[in-house]
Amino acid sequence: MYVQNPSVPERKPVTVPSLQAMKSQGRRIVMLTAYDASFAWQLEAAGVDVALVGDSLGMVVQGHRSTLPVTLDHMVYHTAAVARGLSATLLVADLPFMADRDIAHALEAGARLVGEGGAAMVKIEGAAAHILEAIDALAVRAIPVCAHLGLTPQSVHKFGGFRIQGREQAAADHIVDEALAVQAAGADLLVLEGVPVELGRRVTAAVRIPVIGIGAGPHCDGQVLVIHDMLGITPGKRPKFSKDFLAGRDSVAAAIAAYADAVRSGAFPAAEHSFT
Ligand code: KIV
Repeated sequence: MYVQNPSVPERKPVTVPSLQAMKSQGRRIVMLTAYDASFAWQLEAAGVDVALVGDSLGMVVQGHRSTLPVTLDHMVYHTAAVARGLSATLLVADLPFMADRDIAHALEAGARLVGEGGAAMVKIEGAAAHILEAIDALAVRAIPVCAHLGLTPQSVHKFGGFRIQGREQAAADHIVDEALAVQAAGADLLVLEGVPVELGRRVTAAVRIPVIGIGAGPHCDGQVLVIHDMLGITPGKRPKFSKDFLAGRDSVAAAIAAYADAVRSGAFPAAEHSFT
């Protein structure tokens, strides 16, 4: 049975400015997905900095082959559940596929994820012109935005699969330009997914805002993983960029704590989890 508000170690709430301070001070940011209150509490107890209600829930919770079937109602439902399990951890929620198709929809999604869901920040994929406008529209209304570049899963059909991005020089340069553009539009955080190590290093050095990598090498300001991947319970093959932190440990709590330690010490990701 779920016990509301079980006691967790006291710590200062993680905020948008405190993430920025972590980048300035060279302290790595630990981010992990969660989709319900019980797992949210595990993240909270382990001192994870940022919980992400990713639309990856479409794959690992709902069993779809992509994130595209996830709706705004699904996202609000799971975000509100996660919010009930958190206290100090900063909560970020994804805008689902097509919720960013114009400013009105992006604002409605942002308002619901923050107002009904309890998120402190929303994540939006890409850097096309209408996305930059949406980032600006959300940011000026005091809804902090996490941008998401590189292998953006909502573009799976355009990419022809979940493929590493930015391997060629021109494509890498383009992603650096996109990172500067989302920052200029008002993003406060950037998730960089599925790019070579050198591009992860370039993007992290190019922008002032913290860059959280997933399959983007060790030079980012922090790391994020899908919790099912790092517990080794995702059906099928584990992605190369992930690691099973439950292997050799006896609890979910120990696995999450080991992940947080490995991110903070720089031990994760290692070369075997990265793309060259
Ligand atoms: O949806 C998600 O979980 C994500 C992460 C992979 C960054 O966007």
